[in-house]
Amino acid sequence: MDVLARIERVLDRALALPDPGSTRLREAMRYSVLGGGKRLRPQLVYAAGLALGAEPETLDDAAAAVELIHVYSLVHDDLPAMDDDDLRRGRPTCHRAFDEATAILAGDALQALAFEIVAGPESQSAEEIAKRLVMTRLLARGIGTQGMAGGQAIDLEAVGHRLDLRHLQNMHRRKTGALIETSVLLGAAAAGEFTGSRVEALQRYGTAIGIAFQIQDDILDVTGTTADIGKVAGADAARDKPTYTSLLGLDGAKRAAEEQHALALESLRPLGAAGAELARLANFVVGRGH
Ligand code: IPE
Ligand code: IPE
Ligand code: MG
Ligand code: MG
Ligand code: MG
Repeated sequence: MDVLARIERVLDRALALPDPGSTRLREAMRYSVLGGGKRLRPQLVYAAGLALGAEPETLDDAAAAVELIHVYSLVHDDLPAMDDDDLRRGRPTCHRAFDEATAILAGDALQALAFEIVAGPESQSAEEIAKRLVMTRLLARGIGTQGMAGGQAIDLEAVGHRLDLRHLQNMHRRKTGALIETSVLLGAAAAGEFTGSRVEALQRYGTAIGIAFQIQDDILDVTGTTADIGKVAGADAARDKPTYTSLLGLDGAKRAAEEQHALALESLRPLGAAGAELARLANFVVGRGH
């Protein structure tokens, strides 16, 4: 199966939006979601779900939902009130291509669409409804105060302050790690597994690559070029952001990412050969140059 092509199809379908209220809002949503991106989070949904024996069709809704949430978080993260960035995925950020109010609404509507999709169609079996409720709760937990929004609040409050390693890791785990961990757990839940040793293994894996992913993002802000990363390089230092590279230096940050990578691979052991794609994605997280 060509997972990346499948993800594009699923997202394009989700964003048909026949009654958007405003064509500008619809265009802003489509512009932000369909304009590239590595699609790591939906890839994790498929990799986790397939590893536990799910059929691809049962994973499409969760895969779409996590990418829509991710893009909503990027659109808001780039706003002048947050990171004030002009470039995303190699193109003007949503508020630059459209306007601030439209970017706020596009983020809001992407979040709502994600929950509508993860809740499932109107007519479902009792068993499916129960599964969808677990998935909805997982997604909400991943992006609220315990997860992404809480992490983003720490990020903004920490500007200009020095966080110690424990607090920095907590911030990274929440602002970025939580949605990555959620993506893995949603894949498992969609496969019908909510608890047990395999889910625990996947959770440990998700936590580790989630932290590693943001450490690598901090590293690329220092070592990448604007052309490579599709966003303005050096933006963290310019804004005095608390990052792994600012606290530990480049080598220290690389070691920290490698530690989490090793932990992720070790966590996959109970899955045996079924964890191969998840291992490949873990390697990608720390090896990537964009
Ligand atoms: C960027 O995420 C924001 C972070 C959470 C670090 P990605 O690096 O996954 O962005 P895209 O989706 O590939 O553009
Ligand atoms: C983003 O962290 C985290 C979320 C969007 C939730 P960053 O602010 O480091 O992400 P980039 O570097 O702008 O992609
Ligand atoms: Mg940010
Ligand atoms: Mg940012
Ligand atoms: Mg960054």
